[in-house]
Amino acid sequence: MFLAVCVCGIVGMQAQKNESFRPGQVWNDTEGNPINAHGGGLLYHQGTYYWYGEYKVGETVLPADATWERYRTDVTGISCYSSKDLLNWRFEGVVLKAVPDDPGSDLHPSQVVERPKVIYNEETGKFVMWMHTDSPDYGKAEAGVAIADSPTGEFKYLGGFRPNGTMSRDQALFVDDDGTAYQFSSSEDNQTMHINRLTDDYTKPDGTYVRRFVDMSREAPAVFKHGGKYYMLSSGCTGWSPNEAELAVADSIMGEWTVIGNPCTGPDSEKTFCGQSTFVIPVQGKKNAYIACFDMWNKTDLQNSKYIWLPILIDEHTGKLSIPWLAEWDMSVFDNK
Ligand code: DGJ
Repeated sequence: MFLAVCVCGIVGMQAQKNESFRPGQVWNDTEGNPINAHGGGLLYHQGTYYWYGEYKVGETVLPADATWERYRTDVTGISCYSSKDLLNWRFEGVVLKAVPDDPGSDLHPSQVVERPKVIYNEETGKFVMWMHTDSPDYGKAEAGVAIADSPTGEFKYLGGFRPNGTMSRDQALFVDDDGTAYQFSSSEDNQTMHINRLTDDYTKPDGTYVRRFVDMSREAPAVFKHGGKYYMLSSGCTGWSPNEAELAVADSIMGEWTVIGNPCTGPDSEKTFCGQSTFVIPVQGKKNAYIACFDMWNKTDLQNSKYIWLPILIDEHTGKLSIPWLAEWDMSVFDNK
């Protein structure tokens, strides 16, 4: 009896180590708490992956004046988790905090802060976070920028603006091999994607941008480079409800983009397995290995939304990219191609 209590006590103190990805299941951090980093983005820096996301805490409400499904939780900040293996994540805290005592702040709990993405600037040594900042009715449509000296913060908020004077909602960042960074943003009332080139310090648009996916209503962009080409995974615009994913490809970032189609295969692939894209991770140390990260939104209880991470598989003969549904998988999928 005494031994049993001791053993249980020890086991209880340690969270179980994750050995595989289990898309759509509760995913605990190293302390045994569900990971809370939604609409997130990852950064690989000096041997460690960092996962930044919306730290959603508290009740989900549908505002009384809502004419569409803009369920919300109060802004509580941006969380950060760290990992060496992409499976086991240590909570590093809330690295950009809400500002409850200033109703005029973009980070006030009453506002909207979504889809944080962090990139590292080699020249300035700063970690630069871009996010979608908005008014509660999503009418402001801005991008907010924060910087930090360390990947785990604390990030200092620099301010919000409309990039090149244009609306910006769902957004992603991409740093090309030459160090030039770009922001992809759902603009023009989410009808058209803008690709905004950033200044050398990554904190502002440099004034050059292109309109792409014109009138195609793409949201949730996630951009990656493979085999010298640029890819964008995205969703359609249906609030928090899932729809069909789409992959597009380009030879140059600001050039023409060609829609390939839905890369998802298997059950519920026509609605992205009930998820929505947020990021694509190039797996370090493995060739042609990418992980597509999706949020599985629980729109009436946003803080309990889950994650769907799936490998992007590349057909060795045709080069075609696909994202098959796998209930459980590990990194060995990349070795079996
Ligand atoms: C879809 C976006 O992708 C989310 O980030 C969020 O803004 C919801 N719309 C709000 O309904």
